[in-house]
Amino acid sequence: MSGEIPLFRKYPKLRSIPWVSVINSPTPIHKMEEISKELNHKEIWVKRDDLTDDIYGGNKPRKYEFVFADILRKKKKRILTLGAIGTNHGLATTVHSKKFGLETHLFLVKQKLSQHVRENLLCHHYFGARLNLMKSNFRRKLAIKARLFFDKNAYFVTTGASSPLGTLGFVNAAFELKEQIDAKLIPEPDKLFVAVGSLATCAGLVLGLELARVKTQIVGIGVTDPSWSSKKATLNLAAKTLEIMRKKDSSIPDVLNELEKRLIVDHSYFGGEYGVPTKEAFEAIEIAKKDYLKLEYVYTGKTLSGLLDYIRKEKISKDEVVVFWNSKSSADLAPYVKKTKYKDLPKGFHKFFDGTIKVMKEDD
Ligand SMILES: Cc1ncc(COP(=O)(O)O)c(C=O)c1O
Repeated sequence: MSGEIPLFRKYPKLRSIPWVSVINSPTPIHKMEEISKELNHKEIWVKRDDLTDDIYGGNKPRKYEFVFADILRKKKKRILTLGAIGTNHGLATTVHSKKFGLETHLFLVKQKLSQHVRENLLCHHYFGARLNLMKSNFRRKLAIKARLFFDKNAYFVTTGASSPLGTLGFVNAAFELKEQIDAKLIPEPDKLFVAVGSLATCAGLVLGLELARVKTQIVGIGVTDPSWSSKKATLNLAAKTLEIMRKKDSSIPDVLNELEKRLIVDHSYFGGEYGVPTKEAFEAIEIAKKDYLKLEYVYTGKTLSGLLDYIRKEKISKDEVVVFWNSKSSADLAPYVKKTKYKDLPKGFHKFFDGTIKVMKEDD
């Protein structure tokens, strides 16, 4: 099961950690010429994690290379996981788990309704997820506990797959970036902007870049409640991940004390509530189109809005090399949406389509 990924090239002893190939990698990295010109900033780059897969890419599948390997090793058959009804993680899990013959059961709670949320919900069904609408987080917890008790073939994947194993996917991503720097595909970045939601993406990058001895500082843009996506929680997850790595290879340095300096987590672009659009995110989405990037307002639009603001307020000097980590799949879901009728979803979900609930406008 151990492929030749950057992490294993760096630390061959980690090959004993189960891994399966899920994504197209390395993902491309290139300069955003138009945005750089518009902001009169020398070098703004983008890491194209939107292209990790042709059907459904983005950041989540990187985590599954380690999470799914663990599921397969334990010979489990069903994934139980959770999110809001439009969860990207739930959709990515459903799409990718199928390739390994695994079933996905989603335990969902409602969120502000938008066209994007509806589309994801239709796609959950199209790709074969078993859908459960839960009235509260508490009830959801009980329901999952009960299922895990009675179904010995079930495996629980935490929110956003942000477990230490999921985080390893982004430690690997940091080493992928390091290989791209070594190959002179990009100058060594000064700053990297990434969304912080359930934590693993940012935690893995911080840890990986420290281990790779790349100078890059990370600016994590918080897109979930600050009590959830805090710097402290991010560093805790990085610590747990490093522990797994050091158990397998004690020569890996204990870099925990170094991580603090490398990371800023900034919630100034959050907009007060998860999934709520901000004017600045819409502006960022428009600007990104000039470099042919398709962003959205929940994660990547807010993240790019933070990057733009740091540059405009000169929190970053003109000659710094900046990377925007594009974490949202840009694959077109329209063909699957078109083929799915909402009435084919379990009855409880019909209210999200039949006009009972107001749909939030996404363009203002
Ligand atoms: C598109 C997208 N980008 C970024 C994030 C944030 O990543 P993480 O949950 O690993 O913090 C998420 C999920 O929360 C996401 O769906």
